Amino acid sequence: MKRTEVSTVLEEAKIGEEILVKGWVKSFRANRFIALNDGSCFKTLQVVVDFENYPEELIKRISFHSCVSIKGELVASQGSGQKVELQAKEIEILGDSDAGAYVLQPKKMTQEYLREKAHFRMRTNTFSAVFRLRHAIAFAINKYFNDHGYYYMHTPIITGSDAEGAGEMFHVTTFKPDTAPKDEAGNVDYKQDFFGKETNLTVSGQLQAEMGALALGKVYTFGPTFRAENSNTSRHLAEFWMIEPEVAFCDIHGDMDLAEDFSKYLIKYCLDNYPDDLAFLEKRILDSEKQMPKEQRRPLPLIESLKFVIDNDFERITYSDAVNLLRNSKPYKKGRFEFEVEWGKDLQAEHERWLVEKKFKKPVIVRDYPKGIKAFYMRQNDDDKTVAAMDVLFPGIGEVIGGSQREERHDKLLKRMEEMDIPEHELWWYLELRKFGGCPHAGFGMGFERMVQFITGMTNIRDVIPFPRAKGSAEF
Ligand code: 4AD
Ligand code: MG
Repeated sequence: MKRTEVSTVLEEAKIGEEILVKGWVKSFRANRFIALNDGSCFKTLQVVVDFENYPEELIKRISFHSCVSIKGELVASQGSGQKVELQAKEIEILGDSDAGAYVLQPKKMTQEYLREKAHFRMRTNTFSAVFRLRHAIAFAINKYFNDHGYYYMHTPIITGSDAEGAGEMFHVTTFKPDTAPKDEAGNVDYKQDFFGKETNLTVSGQLQAEMGALALGKVYTFGPTFRAENSNTSRHLAEFWMIEPEVAFCDIHGDMDLAEDFSKYLIKYCLDNYPDDLAFLEKRILDSEKQMPKEQRRPLPLIESLKFVIDNDFERITYSDAVNLLRNSKPYKKGRFEFEVEWGKDLQAEHERWLVEKKFKKPVIVRDYPKGIKAFYMRQNDDDKTVAAMDVLFPGIGEVIGGSQREERHDKLLKRMEEMDIPEHELWWYLELRKFGGCPHAGFGMGFERMVQFITGMTNIRDVIPFPRAKGSAEF
């Protein structure tokens, strides 16, 4: 007999049907009721076992997280909650589980504990919901761009360039540290290395995506990116996924429109298709907030806050507006910000959070940042002080998207690269794009895990990626 997945049983199967299900035992009450989950959906299927009909040995082996295969007949459910339940006729144990020694327990476990048990954490309600939603968002990303005429472009993971010019890269080499060949000046001679040059893991696929946009019109990348940032925060990973659309004939305003529409689409897709997982995560947060002081709780429950984001326009302000607002804010005047707010300095997380959570209470797009704090490729504004950059800030997370219109004028780009010591010989091809049929174009990068954090309400970024790589942590 072919196996039926629990999601199908609950949605389509009819009373009286004989079916075969396989999954893990979430609970076994009174030697009679199994809650069976097979990962296909959040819900469990209730299986009724007449224990008198089975050997005692077998009944004993049905325990927390043992894996079972059950044939039976679907009957109308006696209890409330579900329409159907399965009356077991044949039970086979596929995998025993010693409930007493098992690292998961049928009670609340901390996220820190579960991070150390990443090989099992996907079996908990919380993490299975998070990872189903992570899948949903990845699918929605591809669907959105496909439906809007974008081409998915795979950019390289190993590159010779530092796209962000920030120098936070993992080097890729076949040399061993102590036996690497040296040149006459005593420096490591990368000419003898595998690629004949120094290489690193990519920090962004943008520069390559620009080549795609100037040929295919609209492209996007969606792949892993790597940053050796020394930030041990709840928002930083060393290996994270980034979505980078790049669009020809688009300016900074079109870029902001795309970022807003795209973000709302992803949220709506999850609300429409994964209501059970979101409802569970919302309840989980509300429960855990019961012991918290009021000011640490979320202003809105998860689902309401997601709906609020899709129903309202994002606030759009310039960096200069943001600085003025911040300098006139209560926490600034009372000296409560740790970092100085001064035109020309980057906004810190505390400033971004004030703008989003206190001032506007919704996502905010800040644009026209000072050129001194942004990357070399951003288009210079006429004021000679700012660039056409934009960051999208979300409640509870801060920056989820960073993007810009690109400098398409060869002379201005070259001058900026010289000023910022960006090696011209590395990016000769990037410069040539400006010489042969260049055009105004723009794009952005969305931090995938930060978006997953926003939609699931998970507070630590390490809990929305199956195997987090962060400072001091590369287990599993
Ligand atoms: O703002 P960033 O550095 O922008 C770029 O890399 C551009 N090349 C994007 C583009 O215009 N095509 O990074 C983009 C986003 C950030 O807004 C943030 O959400 C995420 O990537 N991000 C990280 N996420 C997790 N861990 C880190 N260490 C991250 N660094 C950036
Ligand atoms: Mg940024």
